[in-house]
Formats: sequence, C-alpha cells, structure tokens
Amino acid sequence: MTGVTIIGTGSYAPGRPVTNHDLARVMDTSDEWIRPRTGIHQRHYAGEGETASDLGFRAAERAIEAAGIDRGEIDAILCSSMTSDYKFPGSGGLIGAKLGIQGVPAFDLQQQCASMPFSMQVANGLISTGAAKTILMVGADAHAGFMPWKDWDVLYGERDAEVSPEARAQATKHRGLAVIFGDGAGAMVLRKSEVEGHGFLGAQLHTDGDYAEDIALLGGGFRSRPFLTKEMIDEELYVPRMAGRSLFKHAVKKLPKVVRELCARHECTTEDVDWVIAHQANDRINFAVRDALKLPPEKVPSNIARYGNTSSATIAILLDELIRGGKIERGQLLCLLGLGAGLHWGAALMRY
Ligand code: UT7
Repeated sequence: MTGVTIIGTGSYAPGRPVTNHDLARVMDTSDEWIRPRTGIHQRHYAGEGETASDLGFRAAERAIEAAGIDRGEIDAILCSSMTSDYKFPGSGGLIGAKLGIQGVPAFDLQQQCASMPFSMQVANGLISTGAAKTILMVGADAHAGFMPWKDWDVLYGERDAEVSPEARAQATKHRGLAVIFGDGAGAMVLRKSEVEGHGFLGAQLHTDGDYAEDIALLGGGFRSRPFLTKEMIDEELYVPRMAGRSLFKHAVKKLPKVVRELCARHECTTEDVDWVIAHQANDRINFAVRDALKLPPEKVPSNIARYGNTSSATIAILLDELIRGGKIERGQLLCLLGLGAGLHWGAALMRY
C-alpha cells in the first residue's frame, strides 16, 4: 500500500513584516500583550489589490519548481482559502489561470485553519481512485481586507501621524482578532508514493456546525436579503467575530484527542510521530497539545513568531520551511494537525 506524498513545497509571504510595535500605531495594543499570549512577533499583509490567488500562485510556482515537474503535469488543484478573491468563485481556478493551466479542475475547500488535514484526505482520494496523478495543493489567505483600520501608511510608518481617536477606537475594538492574523500562502505538489508503506496513511476529521459562530464572518452571507447591506458595514460585520477563549479551549481538548485516536487506528503511538506540524493559531495552544501528548518541543515546531496565523496556509508554510531546511527526512512520520472555523478539526498521518 502506498498513499499520496509530497514531492515539492513552496511558500510566500507578501510585503515587509509588520511588528507588534507597528500595530500599536493604529490601536491600543503592545508587544508585551501580544508576544507572551500568542508567540507572535510580526506578520505580513497583502498589499492593496493583492489577493489570495496572487499569494497562492507565488507559493505554487515555488512548489512546482521544487518538485521538478512541468506545470502541465498538474491534473488537479486543491485550494483552501477563507479570504478568496471573490465571494464566489473560489480562488483555485484563478491560481490555475495564473499558472497557465486553464482547464485543469480546481476544487475549493473551506476548512480554514484545519484545511491541510482535510485536503490531504481529498488528495489521497483523488489519487487512489485514479482521478488525478499530480495534485497542486494550495492554502492561501489574505486577511488584510478585514483588518479594522484604514491608515495603512501610518501602520507601515510611511506617514508620521496619529490616527484619529475614532479610528483607534474602531481598531482597538477588534484587537483580539486583528493582532493574530497574517497573510501568506503555502503550496505542495502531491503524487502517489513509490515506496511501499510510505505516503498518506489516514486522517481523522471532524466538523461541528453548532460552533460555526465561534469564528465566522457574519456580514455578507446569504442568510440575508440582499446578502450585503449598508447596516452590515455600519456594524463592522466585515470583520470576523471570534470567541478566542472558546476556540482555545476546543483546540487544547480536541487536538490531542484526535492525534491519539488517529495513531491508535494506524497501530502507532504518539511517540512514533517524528513531527507534529500543527496549525499556528497561538503558541500556547501548541504547547498545551505538546504537553498533553508528552512530546518533546523539537517535535512540534513553530514559526508563528514570523508570520502570525495565516489560516489555511500555516501548515504548508511550516512544512515548506522544514523540508527546504533539510529538517524533515524521507521515511519520517508526520502528523498534520489543525482546528479552525467551522468548527473543523482533524489530523492526517503521512510517512514522508
Ligand atoms: O486560527 C483558528 C482560530 N483562532 C484561534 O484558535 C484563536 C484562539 N484564541 C486565542 O489565541 C486567544 O483567545 C487570543 C490570543 C485571541 C486572545 O487572548 P485571550 O487571553 O483569550 O484574551 P481576551 O480576548 O480574553 O482578552 C483579555 C484582555 C481583555 O481585557 P480586559 O477585558 O481583561 O480588561 C482584552 O480587552 O486582553 C485585552 N486584549 C488586548 N490587549 C492588548 C485583547 N486583545 C488585546 C490586544 N492588545 N491585542
């Protein structure tokens, strides 16, 4: 038995980094608050007009180059984004068009921060049924469009001015959410492994719609006629609502459980896992997961300090850094792990 494996990775973060100190120019926050609570030191934001498909395209180009394939060999695209270029269609087809591979089917998945374990399950299904041989999997998010400030030039230090008290109050109202997200994309090229026992082994995936509003974009949905109203803008419903503490509790409870259950199904122990590549929402969540599973710190790496939470992209960016850095070796057991809006959560096991 062999499953789908990673033959190339790539990632991309736009613009120059924005530090916690930079954020304090537009809202009441501080490095002292953000860093110990989250592990985040800086993040990147897409520029005006720069979209999830632009970021995804850049990451995809790098992954294709690393895989050493011709882009014409890709026969399916799996794209995950919660900040797609349009409300619809999704960004997968746009990435395909930017790559010049129009006609290749693109699947858009909406599992947000849990997207990579879900996408891996779908990719393995496509490959094992013969529907595809070479899959481009992309996670890309450009959250800049929902950030609760307008004075980007002040944020970047390009204009030496104070933002208005109203603008500061508006941004401060959403600071719990705004400080954790950053923009970026990660991509992987996937093919069936040629080594017996290697590749995707299985996934354990869950969804509970009862908690959909723990983190959701309440404005611009088709529960409303019309789906977008002036009132939604006035109520700032273009900024997602996030029950941070509730999500934190779900994560520290559900994530260790799903890893244990998945390992048990595949007759291995959590000790056998070489790398837990976890979604980067908050270092404290991953420390708790690591402690619950009794894993040493080096098995649960983090790069949230440099990117913040890039939603659909975190796991792919982290994998890219570890694979390019020569840290992850062929034959090692990887566990991809994430929880996010949906509520979706899950883990996927792969012998790389
Ligand atoms: O990606 C998947 C989905 N998201 C997550 O998994 C996020 C999980 N949750 C978290 O990581 C944490 O809940 C956050 C980091 C988002 C927030 O941390 P928290 O400890 O839950 O903070 P809180 O929202 O409960 O706020 C605590 C205090 C409040 O002040 P008072 O009412 O105690 O006086 C907030 O107003 O901290 C204040 N606060 C801030 N202060 C400075 C909240 N955000 C900030 C901020 N800067 N950015």
